[in-house]
Amino acid sequence: MPSIRILLGHEPLEVEVADPTETVLQWLRRTGRTGTKEGCAEGDCGACTVVLGEPDGRGGLAYRAVNACIRFLPTVDGKQVITVEDLKDLDGALHPVQRAMVDHHGSQCGFCTPGFVMSLFALAHTDPGADREATLDALAGNLCRCTGYRPILAAAAEALPDGGRDRFAAREAETLAKLAAIRRGGALEIEAGGRRFLAPRTTDELADALARHPHACVLAGATDVGLWVTKQHRALDTVVYLGEVEELRRIETRDDALVLGAGVAWTEALEAVAPHWPTFAEMLRRFASVQIRNAGTVGGNVANGSPIGDGMPALIALGATVVLNRGGVRREMPIEDYFIAYRKTALQPSEFLEKIVVPLPRSGQRFAAYKVSKRPDQDISAVCACFRLTLDDAGVATDFRCGYGGMAAIPARGREVEAAVVGRPWTIETAVAAMAAGDRAFSPIDDMRASAAYRRTVARNLLMRFYEETRNGVADQRAAGDD
Ligand SMILES: Cc1cc2nc3c(=O)[nH]c(=O)nc-3n(C[C@H](O)[C@H](O)[C@H](O)COP(=O)(O)OP(=O)(O)OC[C@H]3O[C@@H](n4cnc5c(N)ncnc54)[C@H](O)[C@@H]3O)c2cc1C
Ligand code: FES
Ligand code: FES
Repeated sequence: MPSIRILLGHEPLEVEVADPTETVLQWLRRTGRTGTKEGCAEGDCGACTVVLGEPDGRGGLAYRAVNACIRFLPTVDGKQVITVEDLKDLDGALHPVQRAMVDHHGSQCGFCTPGFVMSLFALAHTDPGADREATLDALAGNLCRCTGYRPILAAAAEALPDGGRDRFAAREAETLAKLAAIRRGGALEIEAGGRRFLAPRTTDELADALARHPHACVLAGATDVGLWVTKQHRALDTVVYLGEVEELRRIETRDDALVLGAGVAWTEALEAVAPHWPTFAEMLRRFASVQIRNAGTVGGNVANGSPIGDGMPALIALGATVVLNRGGVRREMPIEDYFIAYRKTALQPSEFLEKIVVPLPRSGQRFAAYKVSKRPDQDISAVCACFRLTLDDAGVATDFRCGYGGMAAIPARGREVEAAVVGRPWTIETAVAAMAAGDRAFSPIDDMRASAAYRRTVARNLLMRFYEETRNGVADQRAAGDD
């Protein structure tokens, strides 16, 4: 049977793959590691949280909390997989995070506890100085239904400062050496259970794999695709995984643009956009949870084409373009042209999204990103609206771009709204005319998340809010999360 190589805790392990779409959680539990729990099987509750360790590219190890329930087993090839069973010391002493959870009574039924412990373990390693806000953010993807969060936050406050100075830190050099020893030289190819899984290492290999399998399922972070398997029980016959293609995980800052490889995870994208567009970064902080942002990619969000995906409205308003690659032949188009109809995109068989090019801000441009959802964290938007405005010295709009989510069957550019603004003084009359243009232009989606009437009203109000904030000079300094 084909196999992958991982470090389970600190032990190198050859893992036989019976089905390439078996999840890490299913494999862990099937083989006796039942500390990691299954709650929702869709990335929402965090009971299945495990931590992946891999070289951080700066000579150290990066520890990332992820949801094992939607992660396919072959995607952890070459990585360290740490579960709650690995945390206690060799003499049986609890890890500082576990000890603090006990001391502060952070667990009642205990079902959520391994997930919380693993999220806090990762946080202790990545941000030991995390304050209450940062801790809340790190735990937004972990739900507890009986203990309540106060004792868990108390445990976090106690454990975080020293929690990362553990035997995992002490063995970092050894772990890096072990990871180097199990690292595969070339592409991974698995055929098992009637299914195929390919993990190329370069864009050329990726293009070649997709040329050979034009209708394969392209897999990035699996935060959408994972649910097709766990919730819709879809059978994916051939999967081409792009998570091992180093070039797609690069972020490049050019003189005039930020270039995000399609495989860049939202965690890194958030850091890259923050200096240029703080409200976009704040909106991304409200994108799902740390676990999802650690896995989910910018390219997956765009390629998926959901009308309520959070990345697109901002990318449309910022004038981003996408670069598609098919057999090494590239084409570039404005991101709004990529979306054709509900979940239908310009992507052809054998083609993949390679990168997203985002023009950097020019002087005088004001930008704001707004996400309105039922709760601040870990929630899909009802409406997203993003605006970029340039005024001349006389206060006349020389340029205006807007992108919307939730207002049409696709992520949409508001051309009619833009036309009502460009060439006119940025006054209340212009803003009101633009609101009316938006009313005429859009037929918002109407579903269980929000009615069409609600979405229309929210879109109008967000435009007025942008007007008020730009008038007062606060757009893009304000926190977008205060909806
Ligand atoms: C609990 C939870 C919360 C979520 N919250 C949010 C949220 O707040 N906001 C939001 O916008 N989304 C949210 N999502 C959706 C999801 O996380 C995002 O859409 C994410 O960006 C998808 O990226 P991925 O790498 O996981 O894509 P995958 O699941 O791997 O792929 C998604 C789709 O894109 C295709 N694809 C991926 N990469 C490429 C490529 N380079 N070229 C061609 N095709 C490609 C795949 O074939 C598939 O059709 C959430 C999901 C979950 C499970
Ligand atoms: S089981 Fe709920 S997030 Fe994985
Ligand atoms: S302790 Fe029961 S769900 Fe958290």
